[in-house]
Amino acid sequence: MTTTLTVTTSTTSYPVIVGAGVLSTLAGHLAALELRGTLWLIADEHLIAVAEHIAGMLSTAGFRVRITTIPSGEQSKSFNELHRLYDWMIENGIERRDAVLALGGGVVGDLAGFAAATILRGVALVQLPSTLLAMVDAAVGGKTGINHPLGKNLIGAFHQPRLVLADTHLLATLPPRELRAGWAEVIKHGIIRDAELFFALEELASSQGWHATNAAYWDAQNIELTTKLTAIIARAVAVKVEVVSRDEFERGERITLNYGHTIGHAIEQLLGYRLLHGECVAIGMDAAARIAVALGLCPPALVERQRKLLAAYGLSTALPTDLDRDAVLALIGRDKKVQAGKVRWILPTAIGQVVVRSDVPFDVVEAVLASDQV
Ligand SMILES: NC(=O)c1ccc[n+]([C@@H]2O[C@H](COP(=O)([O-])OP(=O)(O)OC[C@H]3O[C@@H](n4cnc5c(N)ncnc54)[C@H](O)[C@@H]3O)[C@@H](O)[C@H]2O)c1
Repeated sequence: MTTTLTVTTSTTSYPVIVGAGVLSTLAGHLAALELRGTLWLIADEHLIAVAEHIAGMLSTAGFRVRITTIPSGEQSKSFNELHRLYDWMIENGIERRDAVLALGGGVVGDLAGFAAATILRGVALVQLPSTLLAMVDAAVGGKTGINHPLGKNLIGAFHQPRLVLADTHLLATLPPRELRAGWAEVIKHGIIRDAELFFALEELASSQGWHATNAAYWDAQNIELTTKLTAIIARAVAVKVEVVSRDEFERGERITLNYGHTIGHAIEQLLGYRLLHGECVAIGMDAAARIAVALGLCPPALVERQRKLLAAYGLSTALPTDLDRDAVLALIGRDKKVQAGKVRWILPTAIGQVVVRSDVPFDVVEAVLASDQV
């Protein structure tokens, strides 16, 4: 089963195609988009075999393809790696009509996306996400960029792709911990905007013998389950598609995608990236829901239900014991979700609904950080 969604912004419109095995349709889509120049395939090093397979397929279909790989990990979102990509493309004669294909997780998507946004003042970009996080979040919406030694994602540009092709078969090789971190974002999309998605995730978790990190579910052999999971992923992607279509440049609603990120980012940074982004977001979602309870915005039952679902997908919501609470409070003030000196909190009011509040008293946040209890 394949789901085709469309991002429509004030400046552009592009398909986001989600399905098991959809990579085999890439050549046809590129031809339909008239991307006939050289294709610069930039792949995560762990996906070299997939990249070579894609290149073979595209060459057979008459495209010119060049491949390079990116070392796995966040440190590749750097000036050095970007510079290397520029050198590679310029030395090999990139032209304006060419396209960059980004095959990998959010790291490759952000880095290759930024290279595409800036080289020759911008060439076409196609996102081929290979992690759950990149499928439901990073590959859609046009945010590209690299890190600066002083902070994450500080250098970047909005550059919408021409196409996003999310092939869920790729998840079969994703390490379990990365898969779990991706589920955190899927659950987040359910809470912020799609109660039915949340309920579908609950139902899935209650299936006999279900285990969120079982790679075999994504395998071509497991057609029934892969189809069911792919439909859920497509639903989570749809949330991102709708939000960015309504608010391309994060002037309003797009901020709701940052549910769980205010405290999540602070934890990520303070623990020196020991925990993955999704793992920190899960803890941050729990804290945000407890803030909402303290303010009387939602019942304590929501916290319990969210905790139960996160746990079913292998995610802990406990604040790490060695976390310096005061340092979290200090960092929150510097978060990018601060506007005119006020922290903008994304807080749930019900499953599928959030509000943005800039008037959360400091002592409420302090109390929530002091305990894991509702
Ligand atoms: N642009 C956006 O809107 C946006 C949104 C959210 C996150 N991000 C960015 O995304 C990045 C995180 O992305 P991520 O979680 O995808 O991590 P990642 O790109 O680092 O990938 C995680 C790990 O999985 C490996 N991997 C990827 N696909 C694989 C596959 N199919 N099989 C086996 N191994 C595979 C990678 O080599 C890496 O080791 C961060 O830099 C974050 O800032 C961007």
